[in-house]
Amino acid sequence: AIPARGGPSTLTFQELRQGLSQNHQVAEGYEVQMVIRWGDPVLEGAPPYDPRNLTAEGQAKQFGYNCDYLDYFPLPAGSRNSEHGLICVNHEYTNTNLMFAGIGEGRAARGRTTREQAAVEIAAHGMSVVEVRKENGTWRSVPAGRLNRRITMETPMRIGGPAAGHERMRTNADPTGTRVLGTLNNCAGGNTPWGTVITAEENFNQYFGGDAAESGPQAAAYRRYGIAKDATYAWGRHFDRFNLDKEPNEPNRFGWIVEYDPYDPESVPVKRTALGRFKHEGATHAISADGRVAFYSGDDERFDYLYKFVTARPWNPNDRAANRDLLDDGTLYVAKFEERGVMRWLPLVHGQGPLTEANGFRSQADVLIETRRAADLVGATPMDRPEDVETNPVNGRVYVMLTNNSRRTAQQVGPANPRANNVHGHVVEVIPPGAGTDRVDHAATEARWEIFLMAGKPGVDSGARYHRATSDNGWLSCPDNCAFDSKGRIWISTDGAPENAGIADGLWGADTSGYGRALTRLFFQAPSGAEVCGPRFTPDDRTVFLAIQHPGEDPGSTFERPSTRWPDFKDGEPPRPSVIAVVKRDGGEIGS
Ligand code: FEO
Ligand code: CA
Ligand code: CA
Ligand code: CA
Repeated sequence: AIPARGGPSTLTFQELRQGLSQNHQVAEGYEVQMVIRWGDPVLEGAPPYDPRNLTAEGQAKQFGYNCDYLDYFPLPAGSRNSEHGLICVNHEYTNTNLMFAGIGEGRAARGRTTREQAAVEIAAHGMSVVEVRKENGTWRSVPAGRLNRRITMETPMRIGGPAAGHERMRTNADPTGTRVLGTLNNCAGGNTPWGTVITAEENFNQYFGGDAAESGPQAAAYRRYGIAKDATYAWGRHFDRFNLDKEPNEPNRFGWIVEYDPYDPESVPVKRTALGRFKHEGATHAISADGRVAFYSGDDERFDYLYKFVTARPWNPNDRAANRDLLDDGTLYVAKFEERGVMRWLPLVHGQGPLTEANGFRSQADVLIETRRAADLVGATPMDRPEDVETNPVNGRVYVMLTNNSRRTAQQVGPANPRANNVHGHVVEVIPPGAGTDRVDHAATEARWEIFLMAGKPGVDSGARYHRATSDNGWLSCPDNCAFDSKGRIWISTDGAPENAGIADGLWGADTSGYGRALTRLFFQAPSGAEVCGPRFTPDDRTVFLAIQHPGEDPGSTFERPSTRWPDFKDGEPPRPSVIAVVKRDGGEIGS
C-alpha cells in the first residue's frame, strides 16, 4: 500500500505508482501545464510548426530541440516575481530519427542528414530565452517577447580567459583564436550571483570527425575527449569546420562553460576557458564566506572527474558590471576522494606538480585545453559519471549526481564509488568547512563527504541504500539532475532508468535532514523515452518547471512510428521535447 502521507518525510503528496507510459504522470492534486514545445515560436516572424517542412531559417526563430538545462529569471531583473520571468533553456542535441521523415531509426540517423537537414539541426541546437507569464493560475510563453532570444550553433561568441588567443584555438575563420560561432551539446547549466546564465558544453566530440583523429598531431588529445574518425553527426560532410582534416583546432573551441546575459538579447556570449575543457555536464555556483564564488562542475564520462572553480576575487553585489569578467580569473580544482570521509581539491595550475613543460604543458592555456590529461596526472578520483552538482541553500552541502558506471570492476571500487557494475548510480554529499552555518567555505581545499543514497531497488539491487521507509515506488535509478526547494529538500530527476531498471525516468523529492533524510518519493513520471531535466522552482516554490527531453528515444522509434507522440498525440506527428510547469491545483507549494 502507498501511504497518502509521507511517513517520516515532510513531503506529503500521494506518491505515484512506478510504471512505463506514453504519457507523463504527476502526483494527485497537481497539474501539468504546457509552456513551450520544440518548434513553437520564440522570435518575431517564426513560421508555424510544421514537422514536414522544417527549415533552418524557421528553426532559428523557433524553440529548439531536446531541452535540458532550465532556469527561471524573474522579471523585473533582481525581483522575486514568481509569475512573470524568463526561462532559459539549453537545446542539447537532436534526435534526428524523430525530426525528419524517412531517415530511419536510432543514432545512426544522425549520420544520414542532407546539408539542408544538418542546417536545421545546427539551428535546433543552442538555447532559447523565452518570456513566460502565469495568468489566472496558468503558465504561457510569450511569443516574440521583448527579451526572447535564440542562440544557435551560428551565434557569434567571444572566447575569454587564459586559453583565448592560444595557437590551438585558432582556425581559418578566426586567426585570432578569440571568436567562435555557436555552442554545442549544452547539457545542464547554472547561473551566477550577478544574474547571468552559465551553460555547459558536454558531448561536443560527436560532431567532429576526420582522418586527423587517428593520424594528426593532436590525435592523442582528441582521443582523450572521444573525438573519432567517424563523427556521429554528418555535419562534417557538409560544413568544413566540423572536419578535422580542414579545421583541426575547431574542436578545441568546444567543451567549455559559456556565460550569457539573459536580460540583454544583444549581449555576446563568452566561453570562459578558466573553468576548464571537458564534457561539462553543468556548472552551479555557491558563494563562499569571503564573497568569492565557487562553481562546481562534473565531467560526465565513466571514470572522469568532479571539478570546482573558485574566482580570484569576491563578487560585487552592488555593481553588476564589475562582475562581468570575474570568471576569467581564478583557480580550477579537481576532486580527490579519500578514506574516512575526507576529500581534497587539487589545483590545476601550470607549473605546479606535474603540470609542466616536461609533460607538454607550456602555459595555463595548455592545462585548460587538456584539462582531462592534467587531472589524470595530478591523481584525481575517477568517478561514476558525474552529472549535475548543486549546493543545498539550507545546509551548504554540495550534492553530486553520479548517474551510473557499468564498467567499474570490483578491483576499481573506492570509497566514493563503492559499487562494481554500478548500473543505478548514487549521490555523494560534499560537506565544505562551515556547512550548516552561515559561513560556508566553498573556496577551501579540503572537505568531508558522505554518501547520500545508493540508487537501485532496495532488497533487490546489491548495495541500494536509502531511508529504510522508502516505498516500492520511491526508489530511483540513474540520478542526473537535481534542484532544491527553498526548504532545502532535494528533487532528483533521472536519465536512463528504463534501460537500467525497467521503470520510467521521473522526479523524486526527499528531505536532506531530519527523520525523512534520503526518503525519496516519486512525484512525476516522464513519457516514454524521455528524461526529466531542470528541475527549477520559482522563488515562491509554487511552480516547478521541468524540461522533458528526448520523448520517444526508444529502440526502433522513428518519425513515422515513434514510441510516443507526446505531448500533442496527433496522428502522424512525432513527439516534441517541451518545457512544462507543474503547479498544485490548490495553489500551494510543491510537495507540501
Ligand atoms: Fe547530457 Fe550528462 O547528460
Ligand atoms: Ca544530464
Ligand atoms: Ca540542477
Ligand atoms: Ca544523462
